[in-house]
Amino acid sequence: MRFLHLAFVPACLIAACVARRPVPSSTGSTPVAAAEPVRNDGSPQAVAVHDVSEVTPPPVGAASEPVPGFMRGINLGNALDAPVEGAWGVKLEKAHFAMAKAAGLDHVRLPARFSAHADKKAPYLIESDFFDRIDWAIEQAKDNGLSLIIDLHHYEELMKKPSEHADRLVAMWKQIAEHYKSAPPSVAFELINEPCDQLTSDLLNPITQRALAAVRATNPTRTVFVDSFFWANAERLKELELPQDPNLVPSFHNYQPILFTHQGMPFMAPEFQTRPVVFPGPPATPVTPVAAGLKTDWVNTWFTSYNSAPVTENSNGPKAVFDYFQIVEDYVKTTKRRVYMGEWGVSVNADPKSRESWIRLVRKEAEKRHIGWAIWDDGGAFKAMDVKQGTWVAPIEAGLFH
Ligand code: BGC
Repeated sequence: MRFLHLAFVPACLIAACVARRPVPSSTGSTPVAAAEPVRNDGSPQAVAVHDVSEVTPPPVGAASEPVPGFMRGINLGNALDAPVEGAWGVKLEKAHFAMAKAAGLDHVRLPARFSAHADKKAPYLIESDFFDRIDWAIEQAKDNGLSLIIDLHHYEELMKKPSEHADRLVAMWKQIAEHYKSAPPSVAFELINEPCDQLTSDLLNPITQRALAAVRATNPTRTVFVDSFFWANAERLKELELPQDPNLVPSFHNYQPILFTHQGMPFMAPEFQTRPVVFPGPPATPVTPVAAGLKTDWVNTWFTSYNSAPVTENSNGPKAVFDYFQIVEDYVKTTKRRVYMGEWGVSVNADPKSRESWIRLVRKEAEKRHIGWAIWDDGGAFKAMDVKQGTWVAPIEAGLFH
């Protein structure tokens, strides 16, 4: 599915502490009209009856140049991006880094909520304890031969009031850049995770350019990742206005199809609560969307296709994945820039087989195009590895590495 029109999920429907996601809007809905649809609210027995291998991938039209050191990674999420480390049940441990290395990954992306650890007034000083924690993470990465991205995550106030928070963002980047100016090239920066809400491209571009200038004053060649508007939506990459800087890498996130990857997530709006959704569709038994979904045109249209279209055309099939990568290819072809897929993943609400199929497919399509990736994440509802046990979650491990 190619998202030509996009709409916001109403903010009031989603918990404030987590990211909201893009959804397609549609004109002309077709209500789900399966013969005898059943509501299935999450039976673990539901499994896909089709296989992604039934659909031939399109040839690669344009590949990105690789970003050495940032090709296969994991997000160490829910730790330093929580309001306080530990508040969301995850504290970084040495094992996070050791497990990433042992699995053959080359980097970690470190989401960090600097905005919760900096003064509210100029000069917006960042707490030294917070820097200590990030220094520690960088040491762990170095000890394990991993690269690391310092990702400025969850600056929610900036999304709501960009103009009021722009100076603070720039001041924070000035300090971060100064602090890490002598770090090795294996340390990269990501200026703003998932710009959304009021931080539209027309405001995002000048703010990004100011933050970048603050970084470049002390770090002229460091790799810097820049997310597009709308939760790093690939379709918005083309709205980024970036200087010609060989060490600047546009970044997109990939959670498509969102009704599959985020099914039943409590932080998503009510129309996302239909379960189970298997990958790829169509399912053995048609599914009726939840009431809020039935009232939402694009959700109805999507489920009509999911329930009845052949696997080759299904809204929840490989074509949706290929179409999303086509948008990225078009961007690479036009701009000749490198790109990076900084987040992608599927929640524990999907059945294991579907998770494995989607993860393997997305990973292969990214790698065919030389696009570096970081799976979301080590903890939380998208959990990929269990650091206490020292094990990977089986379907994620299979999709990522086999
Ligand atoms: C957010 C997480 C969320 C994940 C998947 C991340 O960017 O920080 O809170 O679980 O995306 O939606």
